[in-house]
Amino acid sequence: MKKIMITGALGQIGSELVNKMRTVYGNENVIATDIRDNGSDVTQNGPFEIVDVTDAKAMFDTAKKYQVDTMIHLAALLSATAEAKPLLAWNLNMGGLVNALEVARELNTQFFTPSSIGAFGPTTPKDQTPQDTIQRPTTMYGVNKVAGELLCDYYYQKFGVDTRGLRFPGLISYVTPPGGGTTDYAVEIYYEAIKNKTYTSYINKGTYMDMMYMPDALNAIIDLMEADASQLKHRNSFNVTAMSFEPDEIAAEIKKHIPEFTMNYDVDPVRQKIADSWPNSIDASSAIEEWGFKAEYDLSKMTVDMLEKLKLKVNA
Ligand code: SER
Repeated sequence: MKKIMITGALGQIGSELVNKMRTVYGNENVIATDIRDNGSDVTQNGPFEIVDVTDAKAMFDTAKKYQVDTMIHLAALLSATAEAKPLLAWNLNMGGLVNALEVARELNTQFFTPSSIGAFGPTTPKDQTPQDTIQRPTTMYGVNKVAGELLCDYYYQKFGVDTRGLRFPGLISYVTPPGGGTTDYAVEIYYEAIKNKTYTSYINKGTYMDMMYMPDALNAIIDLMEADASQLKHRNSFNVTAMSFEPDEIAAEIKKHIPEFTMNYDVDPVRQKIADSWPNSIDASSAIEEWGFKAEYDLSKMTVDMLEKLKLKVNA
């Protein structure tokens, strides 16, 4: 039986992964942790503990108390916030990660942490970016992600910790909005389309980035963690993607359902610079070959679902 501890459980991925994993593995077997208690279902329908990931002892004590056999480490700052507060990002993203890896080493648990398309940089091949390629990111977030991938591989090679990771693209969901990311526009656009029928994009026309709908991201985490270790040639981290689009393309897709929808541009130079340093599209063939990665949602299927679910949420 799995006993899973999740850090950053109230964040963009965590708030949905906790519920998904509780459905799969049982409510009592998924220990949600975060730095705050927001009174949401995640904190109510199973074990929940306040844990600051920069406090190594608190993290270890909680993992030990529940005798966890799997650590899912999600607590981190996203790219735009990390660019605004680089030292805080280094301390939180790297300090939290090494503390979580130490728990995994000491308690001999399986380990997952997300990497990102942000682990690539301007000198990386931009189209169909391969699994193994140049990684010289120019953002603090990217530096954290590359260092994190290397550290996770190190813990596997040096200590035998079963570390696994995914390079996520922008994640889109109607549940918990992201905060401080560069790809957030692709979530905001749906909210604004429903509320105001117009959106001003801070990412410029023609800027392609990979994206994925949250249900596919959650399945990918579970499938990777369940995968037979002997099949994995890579570990930290696998390229995964479901679609690549630029702002005009997502706007056109929304227009099919809300014909009055209009979009303007007011480009934010900071986030645009980050987006320009990332790939246009990444190649997920290693994930497909080694553990059977698949994504169910493309742009049109995701848009139908997002608009339907968000309408209910916004009007509620
Ligand atoms: N969605 C993330 C960000 O924009 C990418 O990993 O920061």
